Parts: sequence; C-alpha cells; structure tokens
Amino acid sequence: VETTVASAEAANPDPAQQSRQRLVNDYLQRGDALHSSGRYEEAAEAYLNAHQLDRGNWHALAGRNRAVRRHVPRWHFEMMHDDERAELYEKALRQVVSADKLVLDIGTGSGLLAMMAARAGAGQVVACEGQAMVADVARKIVKTAGFADKVTVVPKMSTVMEIGQDLDRRADVLVTETVDCGLLGEGILATIAHAREHLLADGAVIVPARARVLAGLIESPELFRKNHVGELYGFDLSGFNELASMEYFDSRLRRHEHRMLTEPFDVFNFDFYRDGPEGKRTELTLKPTVDGTCHAVVFWFELELVAGIELTNSPEHPNTHWKQAIQCLTEPVRLTRGQPVPVDVRHDGLHIHFTVGGSTQTSGAQG
Ligand SMILES: C[S@@+](CC[C@H](N)C(=O)[O-])C[C@H]1O[C@@H](n2cnc3c(N)ncnc32)[C@H](O)[C@@H]1O
Repeated sequence: VETTVASAEAANPDPAQQSRQRLVNDYLQRGDALHSSGRYEEAAEAYLNAHQLDRGNWHALAGRNRAVRRHVPRWHFEMMHDDERAELYEKALRQVVSADKLVLDIGTGSGLLAMMAARAGAGQVVACEGQAMVADVARKIVKTAGFADKVTVVPKMSTVMEIGQDLDRRADVLVTETVDCGLLGEGILATIAHAREHLLADGAVIVPARARVLAGLIESPELFRKNHVGELYGFDLSGFNELASMEYFDSRLRRHEHRMLTEPFDVFNFDFYRDGPEGKRTELTLKPTVDGTCHAVVFWFELELVAGIELTNSPEHPNTHWKQAIQCLTEPVRLTRGQPVPVDVRHDGLHIHFTVGGSTQTSGAQG
C-alpha cells in the first residue's frame, strides 16, 4: 500500500488529491483488515467509502463485492425473478390484509412481500431483515417505491424484536418466505414459533399456513458423483468419501439422468400455527416400483400459503427457483420391485435427513 501511496503522490502532486488518495488507502487497508478478521459488514462499508472517494478503484470495488458475498447470497436475484412465487404470495396477501391490519414480514430481503402487503391495503407493515446490508437496501427500495409511510424496515432478526420497540403492538398478519429447497434450512419452524409466542396477536393469520414434504428414491450415478468418488485416473480416491456431505443440496432433477424407483411418498407435515423446531423422526416402509440401485433421495415441499394457494418445488415444476433438494446416500442400495425397503427420516428443526435400507447401507452395488 505504501508503494501505491508513493506512486500516487508522484503521479499527482496536488496536495488535496494526495490527502484524498491517502484517505482512500486508509479505507482500503481498513477494509482488508476487517475482512481478514471476519467483520464483513464493516469491511464492505470501508471499501464503499474508498470507492466513493475514488470511483475507478478496483481494489475498493472487488473488496466490497467479496465482503457483501459473505452475507448476501446470489440466489436472492433468482428468487426475486420467480414470478410464480411472487404472484402466489401477493394473491395470498390480498386475501388476508386490510386497512386495520398490522402486518409483520419476517426476512423481508428486498422488501418485496412487505410492499405487496402495503399495496394490498395493509394499514401498517413492519418488515424485519437480519442482514444489515440487505435491510439497508430494502429501506431505500421501500422509500423509492413511495411506501415509506406504510412500511418500516427493521434491521434485526425477528428473534430479537420487541413489542413497544420494533412493533407498536402484536401483529395481526405474519408473512414470511424463509424457506430453502429442503423447506426447513432457513429456520422457518423456530422463526414462526418465536413470532407466535412474542410478536403475534391471538388469532393472527400466518402465511404460509402449512407445508408438506414429499420425496422419492432415485437411481442416478450422475447425481451420486456429486458427493462420492472412487477409482479415477488409475488411483483409488475413495478415501475422500469420508469428507462427503450428509446434507442435501439443491439441483434441478430433470437436468440429470435419473430413474424414479418409488412413487412420491409423504415425509412430514408441518402446521405453522402449531409446530415448533423440535426434531422429529419417522420410519417408513416403501415398495419400489422397479428394480434398481438407489443413489439418492429427491425431496420437495408443497407450501400452503392460505387455503387454496400453494407453492411447490416438485420435480414436475420445472421453473421453480428453489429447484429440488437432493441427498446422496453414503453407499448405493440395491432395490427390488415390490420388496419392502425401510426408510428412516429425521429432522432437527433445520435439516431433513434420510437413511435408506437400514443403518449400514453396505449391501448395495458400487457406483
Ligand atoms: C428467502 S429470502 C426472502 C426475501 C423476501 N421476503 C422475498 O420473498 O423476496 C429470506 C430473507 O430472510 C432473512 N431472514 C431469515 N430469517 C430471518 C429472521 N428470523 N429474521 C429476520 N430476517 C431473516 C434472510 O437474511 C433473507 O434475506
């Protein structure tokens, strides 16, 4: 950085410019140090300050982007473009919102659902967002859209909000879209349970109301390879499998060669008016519809926003931004048509996990 300062001074003898350049370099150094110590929001701010003083500064631009990425996943964009998701949420909001209602939007992101609630005629909307950088942007969007008198953005996790401080009173309507491809991964169960207890009025409407998780066993060496390795290039690399993931990942099932080995089956039902994040386990027995080798489980949800309005990321629904949740098995399991196979499913409030064919899963064919 000293070299940068020195060369900048040499290139630009104007004292005002030099002190400005020093300030830019101070911000950049501060940004680098904050980023290294994991303080990404502050790092992003420092880089932004540098960029405002020196618009063409690549270090500032790239540094801010790197820091923002730590807090703001890129999927926000794809999600906002999911017009079915947006249309169905808006349709649901129109059914439950009116001028006498206080609406709480948990996890407002861009402010989209909060503005939809205001557009649908809500008296007041409080929109909280746990990521400060996202909340900051939401506030600007709401203001530019002309909804600042109706929508208040609170830069907090819902779980630290307080009545009297962040909300004048308990809310009449809760709307939230804190759902990942596997339904629970963004913590919707704990978030809604907390809101019911601390932030919502008796009889408040909750959008979404319910959800159902469905799954299917699949044969797909292609998907299995995403989490498993064997012999390659003359080397046995299978030792790497001890680092394989137990968790699901998102993928569009139809983009990968696969065969469904079972009919879709029900896994869990959730009632957001009652359920909390306590873990659950269910033991199922399935009858495969064809012979095959099971490499993975595909699962998806049906999300009932209000009665009659449902969103899904099922494999038959090709355009959903959520894609499907895929969990690879530790080892492939050989299945025979009509022969019962035990499937143990558990969730810990955040993740759904499947064990197929007993706990050892060593009986299957390789690959
Ligand atoms: C899937 S995005 C949805 C954004 C927006 N509601 C929409 O539908 O376009 C979820 C957002 O909720 C935020 N979030 C998740 N849980 C939260 C909570 N309990 N309190 C506040 N924000 C939360 C995340 O940071 C993320 O920005």
